[in-house]
This record gives sequence, structure tokens and C-alpha cells, in this order.
Amino acid sequence: MLVLLGACTPTPSSCDWQSDQLFTKYDFPVGVVADPGKLQAIPAYEAIVSSQFNRLTAENIMKPDALQPAEGVFFFSEADELVAYGERNGQQLHGHTLLWHKQLPFWMEQFQGTREEWDAMMKRHIQTIVAHFRGRVTGWDVINEAFLDDGTLRNNIWQQHIGPSYLEKAFRYAHEADPDAKLFYNDFSLAINPTKRAAVLQFLKRLVGNGFPVDGIGLQMHIFTRFPENEEISRAINEVWQAGFEVHLSELDVSMNPLSREMAFAPDRELVRQEEKYVYIFNAFGRIPSQFQYGITIWGVGDGDSWIRTSFNRQDYPLLFDDNYQAKPAYCNLIDP
Ligand code: XIL
Repeated sequence: MLVLLGACTPTPSSCDWQSDQLFTKYDFPVGVVADPGKLQAIPAYEAIVSSQFNRLTAENIMKPDALQPAEGVFFFSEADELVAYGERNGQQLHGHTLLWHKQLPFWMEQFQGTREEWDAMMKRHIQTIVAHFRGRVTGWDVINEAFLDDGTLRNNIWQQHIGPSYLEKAFRYAHEADPDAKLFYNDFSLAINPTKRAAVLQFLKRLVGNGFPVDGIGLQMHIFTRFPENEEISRAINEVWQAGFEVHLSELDVSMNPLSREMAFAPDRELVRQEEKYVYIFNAFGRIPSQFQYGITIWGVGDGDSWIRTSFNRQDYPLLFDDNYQAKPAYCNLIDP
């Protein structure tokens, strides 16, 4: 009877984040993606970022186009400011991302050269950046989104010009420049697509078997209130750590409007589903052995900041805080684990 009563505890539908700190409720790092312009311009955004999270990821300013806008010209000042901001707040910084097929500088996409010249260009990009942040970045997404849904390698510029060995080289180059940084492979759909997940795991296990330094896997987790199923999420998390990799739920957001319908506000039933999904994920992650818990990173602060709205042009409410930076039910339940 007591158990039943416990299970029926009503969910707080509103609460104050001002009097609480989300990250203190969990034994693993709880991070958020941050944008320096918004940190400066929006006091509530800044207050949430500095008080609720103990790890930061740059939303855009540590991507290739931002850090090496012209060949050999590196632009570090904005990212340095973010690192310093995090250090002032006692927050770790997760580096995102050294290689990707998007947000590349024009010159890099147009680069002309032999295989050796491409390799040297990639090495310089990786090592200049990793060496610059050495000791101040906890881990790096070395490669982002290198696999397709069918489990084959994406034909990105690195694959085209260097071939599949670019992956192992990238990890080796990053490790040489900062042997203490944790090195990650990061991708989407890993919790929803077992074919892609198996291919990524198989590939990375082979790399580790051959002595290349891959520490962990980032499961982006841009998911929905209704899918993937909870069991599928747990299976994905478990397969990753059981294969020996640290797990980063690296870009978590829980959308509620997969069909891009008219949705002028977040319906109550979806807010409840969303809260259950966030709570399930934090709990499932909390159960894995601590040496595999790199952390959970939420991909945005308020719903109005979410990349989902701009990138998919749909009304959606995927984050822990609403458009006015009020705490949503998901947040209220996460601080009351
Ligand atoms: C997104 C940012 O949030 C947006 O601001 C930007 O316009 C596009 O990129 N997967 C990733 C992230 O690895 O880098 C992406 O971030 C979201 C999808």
C-alpha cells in the first residue's frame, strides 16, 4: 500500500529554479549548450546556465568554421571567453566539434591537395585547436556524424580525400595534442537506429582494439516524447558502456511535434510525457557504472533558444525551461529525484 502511495506522488507542475541547482542532484556532470551572445544579452539565460549546470558545450563557436575561418587563421577569443566563464563558475567545458561535414569554413570545403596534404591540413586543424585548449577542456567530440543511417561511412570531405583512415588518424592527432582529454565519437539516431548503432560500435571497437584512443561515444539524443521507447534508450546506453565506452548523452532535447503541426503552446499531456522521458533518461543514465558516466548535456536553455525551431521550422518545446525561462514540469521533477 505504501509503495502504491509513493508511486502516486503528484508531479510538481511548476517550481522555481532560482532556489535550486539541477546539477547538485546527480552524481554525474549535467551540462548545457551555451551561446556567448545570449549569455551577455539575456540575464535569465545567463542565470540558468551558471546556476543549474556544471558543464558547458559551445553551441557553435567551437565548430570548424568558427575556430579556423581562413586557412591557418585561428580565432580563439570567443571560445576562450566561454572557457574562462565556465572556470569562474566551476564548470567543465566539453569541446564540440573538431571534424564534421557541416559548419565547415568555405576554404576547407574547397581545399585542393593530395591525400597527404589533406591529412596534413586535418592534422593541423585538430592539433592547433586541441593544443590551444589543452588542460582546459574535459573532452572533445573528435568526429561528429560520420556514419549514415544504413551504417556506412558518410562521404564527407575527409572520407573523400583521405579515406576511412581519417577517423583513426583524427583520434590519434587529438590524443597527441592533449593526452588527458577524453575523446569522443558523436552522432545522432544511435538510440533509435540499431543498425547504425551496431556499425558505429563495431567500427570503434576495432579502432580501440588496434590501439587508437577512443574514450567514449556521444549519443546526441534529439528525441521525441513518444519515441524512441524507453527500453530502446536503455538498450542503447547499455550497449555503449558494455562495449567499454564512456557514455555522453550529448545533445539531449525532447521534442513533442514530430509532424510539424500547428502547436501554439505545449499541450499538458505532452509536457507530462516530456517530463517522464527526461526523468527516465536521467535515471537510466544514473544506473550505469560511474566510470562510464561522462555526463548528460541538454541542447539549449529555454524553448525559444532551441535549434529545433530554427533548423526544422516547427513549433516545438523540447527543453527544460519555457520561452520565458520559467521551469517546466521536466525540470521540476528532475530536481526532485
Ligand atoms: C546546431 C546549433 O544548435 C544551431 O545553433 C546551429 O545553427 C546548427 O547546429 N547536431 C550537432 C550540433 O552536433 O552541433 C547541432 O547544433 C545540432 C545537431
